[in-house]
Amino acid sequence: MADKNLIDKMNDALALELRAINMYAHYSATVMGINRMQLAPYFSKEVSESITHADFVRRGIVKLGGVPVTERNAKAIVHTTDYQLMLNEAYETEKIAAKAYTAVMDLLKDAGDRDLFDSIEQICMMELRALEELRLLTA
Ligand SMILES: [Fe+2]
Ligand SMILES: [Fe+2]
Repeated sequence: MADKNLIDKMNDALALELRAINMYAHYSATVMGINRMQLAPYFSKEVSESITHADFVRRGIVKLGGVPVTERNAKAIVHTTDYQLMLNEAYETEKIAAKAYTAVMDLLKDAGDRDLFDSIEQICMMELRALEELRLLTA
């Protein structure tokens, strides 16, 4: 079996994606007012992206001989009607995700699986892009 630490870190990332799916789906459904026009599709896109990311990470864990987690990260999902707060929560979520994937990348450098490294690097870049976008949206 591959490095247990690597599998644990990938499971951390997977649990965060499972949380992100719930959070973005919740905000997409509950955002109200004129901002709903843009934010509902934006949050929905993040749901789809998180499902794709979760799928990659899950399959990666299986490839390494690990068991993927089925429970989401326990950090509370804040219900709010304030779209600014939703964006702040999204910003925090992407920040944690970027950090989790950076930790995975550090371990993958030595794991010798080029395919997995490239896939996770792609995901990591997407999280960083989302983070930058949210930084501007919350500015
Ligand atoms: Fe993601
Ligand atoms: Fe993300």
